[in-house]
Amino acid sequence: MAKPKVFVTRRIAQETLNMIASSTDMELWDNELPPPRDVLLNKVQTVEGLLSLLTDKIDAELMNAAPELKIVSNLAVGYDNIDVTEATKRGILVGNTPGVLTETTADFTFALLLAAARRLVEADRYTRAGNWKTWGPMVLLGQDVHHATLGIVGCGRIGLEVAKRARGFDMKVLYHNRVRRKQADEKAFGLEYVPDLSELLSRADFVTIHAALTPETHHLISTAELAKMKPTAILINASRGTIVDQKALYQALKSGQILGAGLDVTEVEPISLDDPLLALDNVIIAPHIASASVVTRTKMAMMAAENLLAGLQRKLPPNCVNPDVMRRR
Ligand code: GLV
Repeated sequence: MAKPKVFVTRRIAQETLNMIASSTDMELWDNELPPPRDVLLNKVQTVEGLLSLLTDKIDAELMNAAPELKIVSNLAVGYDNIDVTEATKRGILVGNTPGVLTETTADFTFALLLAAARRLVEADRYTRAGNWKTWGPMVLLGQDVHHATLGIVGCGRIGLEVAKRARGFDMKVLYHNRVRRKQADEKAFGLEYVPDLSELLSRADFVTIHAALTPETHHLISTAELAKMKPTAILINASRGTIVDQKALYQALKSGQILGAGLDVTEVEPISLDDPLLALDNVIIAPHIASASVVTRTKMAMMAAENLLAGLQRKLPPNCVNPDVMRRR
């Protein structure tokens, strides 16, 4: 029997590619940049499986071009690049990679938070520019993290891990979530639930966003929300760029309405080099790398491969975001 055709949209860990290639007719897009749209539309015409990244838009147009498609396995925990409703309608399974990246992403969130608070990137630039002339009592003063108040917006798995790290810094931790967490979690992680987002924003010294991108969370943080924050507050975003209104953030950072920001994600990725945010010293911008550790990216790739192979066999992928597809069969 012919092996099912699959398209993998970027190079991932070799052992994972070997695993996929051993039971499929695999084509790999072995390029640093994502396949252009026309290439992607062309490649999917005969495939039963697609291993996609968050840079690949998997919408109705693509699904129409892929009549054989059984599974889209996304190498990411987030899947806002996929129209899951359309996939479900067509009986196409969608897989993602939750869990394995939780702690790595929380570590990076904390790295951003510490770096923004203590002006680490600015300090490195200062040193390299030859500005370090002496120990200066007023040089590069930042904000204390220990004993400060952290506000977590969207407290799922990653938010909770960030809370765990915050406890080590003796921080007070507030959280805002669609659903209140179990009391046991609140107790274990020392969390205070704040149902009103404005209240959380006004009390926190650091606000960190870990919500999923949905129509409800698009521009959740905009001018009015930024205006609620303290002038000494720092905003961290390691979720999705469009949850923060970037123009409003620019204004808030430029005018000193808030003190700083640490972003792993931007509204448009990659951020354009002429974006005004890049001219500001009080923002750190990383190229969407929160889950980028060797071990975690390997685990994510393995998980995506397992989802892909299960879906090709019409089995429920270990991590499936639309298991309804199976029930309907
Ligand atoms: C990365 O942003 C992911 O969703 O895994």
